[in-house]
Amino acid sequence: MMQTAQINGLLDGKFALVTGAAQGMGLAHARALANAGARVAIADREEEACTAAAQDLGGNALALAMDVSDPKSVAQGFSVLRDAFGRLDILVNNAAIMVQGERPFQDYWDMSPEYWDRIFAVNTRGPFLCARATKPLMETHGGCIINMVSDAIWAAYEGQLAYFASKGALDTMTRCLARELGPFGIRVNGVAPGLTLSDSVRDSEFLMSLSEEIANARALRRTQHPEDVANVVLFLASELSRAVSGHVIVVNSGGLMR
Ligand SMILES: NC(=O)c1ccc[n+]([C@@H]2O[C@H](COP(=O)([O-])OP(=O)(O)OC[C@H]3O[C@@H](n4cnc5c(N)ncnc54)[C@H](O)[C@@H]3O)[C@@H](O)[C@H]2O)c1
Repeated sequence: MMQTAQINGLLDGKFALVTGAAQGMGLAHARALANAGARVAIADREEEACTAAAQDLGGNALALAMDVSDPKSVAQGFSVLRDAFGRLDILVNNAAIMVQGERPFQDYWDMSPEYWDRIFAVNTRGPFLCARATKPLMETHGGCIINMVSDAIWAAYEGQLAYFASKGALDTMTRCLARELGPFGIRVNGVAPGLTLSDSVRDSEFLMSLSEEIANARALRRTQHPEDVANVVLFLASELSRAVSGHVIVVNSGGLMR
């Protein structure tokens, strides 16, 4: 496993929630925040997976079974979080449906309205619900929200219309939320990764077949790992970025450049 930057004490005394943190990049973000001193809540759909990930972080993490697309489940999860932490300093809206499902890559004319709605329910309503539930836990002392976008929204590839549209919405939501939450001392930023070898990417034959070609087309000629993205999450979660809000940082090893 790659390591994230070690900056001891950077987030001492902070409380963080990372959604979709049972695996992949979410787990890397949670580990980076915990290593920097934060107490971290790991939210994901299944209790068992959350518990295993929380144990993986060393026992100080809170496992939070929560479906981000479901208002009731988010309300329950945040109630547990409020009782356990009492406050929140960092929210990472990471949970998303990217390549899961029976046909993650399909012509848009074959896409069902139900599939479209499911993608939007998780990838955009989820961050909205979590940001809404976060405000009362953050507004008295300030904090930050970090949204996981994607560099592909500026490139446009075939077969993922719902996913890219949902991430485009999240990109816009980042700026809107930054404006609305700024007066409360809450910064809102995003990270837009390029192809990163997370669990779901490693499980996708199609994406893995593109990995080498994508790596060779990057300025840095490298494959990218969850810890590469987690380092930037760490920066955005800390005081090091105290004057940064309403921006999305592209992390793609010098791939697509805007
Ligand atoms: N991996 C990449 O190449 C890449 C590139 C650009 C952006 N991203 C974004 O980065 C984030 C992490 O990607 P990843 O590759 O680690 O994904 P992943 O599929 O490996 O992990 C996503 C996690 O979210 C959880 N999740 C899904 N639906 C949920 C729900 N309704 N409620 C709670 N949790 C839910 C899953 O259980 C899983 O643990 C996503 O937002 C993704 O869109 C990934």
